[in-house]
Amino acid sequence: LLSLPPLEMGFKYFELYPQDKDPLWTNPCDYSRHLSIWPANRTCDRLPQFLIVGPQKTGTTALYSFLSQHPSIVSNHKSRKTFEEIQFFNTDNYYSGLDWYMASFPSPEKPNMTLLFEKSANYFENEIVPKRVAALLPRAKIIVLVMNPAKRAYSWYQHQRNHKDPTAMNYTFHEVVTANDMSPPKLRTLRSRCLLPGLYAQHLIRWLDFFPPNQIHIVHSDELRNDPINVMHYLQKFLHVHPYMDYSQYLRYDPVKGFFCQVISDKQNKCLGKSKGHTYPPMGPEAEQHLRHFYRKHNMNLSKLLASFNTAVPQWLQTELKEAV
Ligand code: A3P
Repeated sequence: LLSLPPLEMGFKYFELYPQDKDPLWTNPCDYSRHLSIWPANRTCDRLPQFLIVGPQKTGTTALYSFLSQHPSIVSNHKSRKTFEEIQFFNTDNYYSGLDWYMASFPSPEKPNMTLLFEKSANYFENEIVPKRVAALLPRAKIIVLVMNPAKRAYSWYQHQRNHKDPTAMNYTFHEVVTANDMSPPKLRTLRSRCLLPGLYAQHLIRWLDFFPPNQIHIVHSDELRNDPINVMHYLQKFLHVHPYMDYSQYLRYDPVKGFFCQVISDKQNKCLGKSKGHTYPPMGPEAEQHLRHFYRKHNMNLSKLLASFNTAVPQWLQTELKEAV
């Protein structure tokens, strides 16, 4: 191999080691050999210390915006295509490489005082993501949000309808969640996107293959919605962020929006946009029953898993487990 010219050597190498074709980026600053060839003008200060990994519809945008209010917490630059989300670890952006990822973050003026983070709500359920995150950011803290998975599925379905997705427009929620292997492919895809992120225990176990439980923080979406000040209190403790910010000064319930919003002045609040925080008709009893049965085993597994994260079993989970008997 060593006697070949560089290009041929490359081809030969990947012929011999095809598994190496898929890169796995590691942090150059963690390895002295890598660091010695890392150009002097590069820095390792532009990598995040924590990630909000999702799943979608659990309040990830609200949490992202509340955290961004903190003076020592800084998120990535916004993207024209994917807005606040970088979607590095779950898409072809990964192949754009480490420089691309680092350039997605601002260079903090006081790196030791600043926590960089990103929120990409599709990371949670993606099979490859925990392995890639652990390779590059082994010390990163991981934030996961959980809510009743049936409600999450319904919220996702309504989200698709708001975006006039033809499949969501053509089928009722019950038809979507009861679709089977004989159903049209687009209906099956919508069913998967409604249902699979809510298999929380299964996904959490995959994250636990790569991260110890004390590096993972579970946020209960209902608490974020009803008592975000308390959620932000515990989150700041988990992140060891300074200075401590008393969010009761910065968040306020907005009766028109029906959610907590950022305080701008005595009379003015800044709420999330129209696409976050909807009211829609209640889920039909048939779909509810079907989903209770569908998620039963997964919810039981979740209730056992929560003990390792030192977090209480939320009310919705207690109710689901009781009703499922
Ligand atoms: P709905 O739009 O179905 O009501 P995500 O940002 O992860 O996609 O989650 C969107 C959900 O966040 C919304 O779902 C809403 O219920 C919830 N949410 C929680 N706190 C919120 C807040 N302060 N403002 C707006 N939506 C909030």
